[in-house]
Amino acid sequence: MVQINDNYLKLQAGYLFPEISRRVREFQKENPQADIIKMGIGDVTLPLTPTVIRAFHEGVVEMSKAETFKGYGPEQGYGFLREAIAKSEYQSRGADIHADEIFISDGSKCDTGNILEIFGPDNIIAVQDPVYPVYVDTIVMAGRTGGYQPNGHFEGLIYMPCTAENDFIPEIPKTAVDIVFLCYPNNPTGTTASKQELKKWVDYARRNNTIILFDAAYEAYIADSDIPHTIYEIDGAKEVAIEFRSLSKTAGFTGTRCAYTIIPKDLVASASDGNKKSLHSLWFRRHTTKFNGVSYPVQKAAAAIFTPEGKEEVKTSIGYYMNNAKTLRENLTELGFQVFGGKNAPYVWVNSGRGIKSWDLFDKLLNEAHVVGTPGSGFGPSGEGYFRFSSFATHENVLKSIERMKSLKW
Ligand code: MLT
Repeated sequence: MVQINDNYLKLQAGYLFPEISRRVREFQKENPQADIIKMGIGDVTLPLTPTVIRAFHEGVVEMSKAETFKGYGPEQGYGFLREAIAKSEYQSRGADIHADEIFISDGSKCDTGNILEIFGPDNIIAVQDPVYPVYVDTIVMAGRTGGYQPNGHFEGLIYMPCTAENDFIPEIPKTAVDIVFLCYPNNPTGTTASKQELKKWVDYARRNNTIILFDAAYEAYIADSDIPHTIYEIDGAKEVAIEFRSLSKTAGFTGTRCAYTIIPKDLVASASDGNKKSLHSLWFRRHTTKFNGVSYPVQKAAAAIFTPEGKEEVKTSIGYYMNNAKTLRENLTELGFQVFGGKNAPYVWVNSGRGIKSWDLFDKLLNEAHVVGTPGSGFGPSGEGYFRFSSFATHENVLKSIERMKSLKW
């Protein structure tokens, strides 16, 4: 009999967001008249901007003519896009990242999961708690943990609590960890890390030969000038960090699919014989073997984001969502919630302040206000009691949801 990968049996229920959709679908079936407002999964609502669409069309037209048609592209991504990213996102901030250290992909979700393939199975891995569930689930699928424990942890994985008590910045581990996932601006808490905080992590990683997997998918939402946009703004980070960036929330590419991962050429880790090997070379080998690149029109559209017009348009879209975040912050505070995040990130992280458990609040809001958010406990045990609102809804719906929440009996 064929054997399955038993590690999948350790996973809890469904992946968080499909599980929420399932519950919402069920509710909608029983209450077909309910006008449900969705602020659960962080999926954008504004369309692609005119400059991006123009470039997308140009790419499609090029594909229609024999002289400009393109078959397989470079697996790592077209040079024009990688050059634009290196200049606009890194060199302009004093971060010495070059086009050949950038790998274009179809999503950070895939990259943050797949990256584990280039690391040995016995590495000790640490994650923030609460955490973007993709990291934990893919670590489990790869057989890098033991079973699920009653405290909500997978055996062998290190959880670093991030709560209001520590300003959502995890404590530096007391022992050496091989791989640390950090996400800033943070999903789900919407909080950020200062240069000083990230410096502590980079120093820790340099002392302990740790690799930091830095997820910066929400970087475009940073408004405060003293918050680093990339971990490579920190001295020494090129020796210890891989960075993931996504165009999904930056420029409305959740359905279009384009992201990129930075693996500096300085980055090395040990082979089992003790020799140092380049992580860039390993990922290059993996990427060119298992991936054939993002489609040409999508890469054309992506490059348009980094033009002056593209940047202005993206700023406007982000401003729209951040106005939603501000509206949510102010009104939820008025409602007596403790409110975090939502200033340099599109997620508003709240605690009802009334001792309500996360899934109970989910049910209350769905049943009584027809409003959907994401229960904090779905992101890990330290998220219990918290709840996440995504500000990617339309402003009209944000206002409507607030009106409904204000009319509830608390
Ligand atoms: C979220 O809501 O956390 C994100 O949309 C999920 C994702 O980016 O995959």
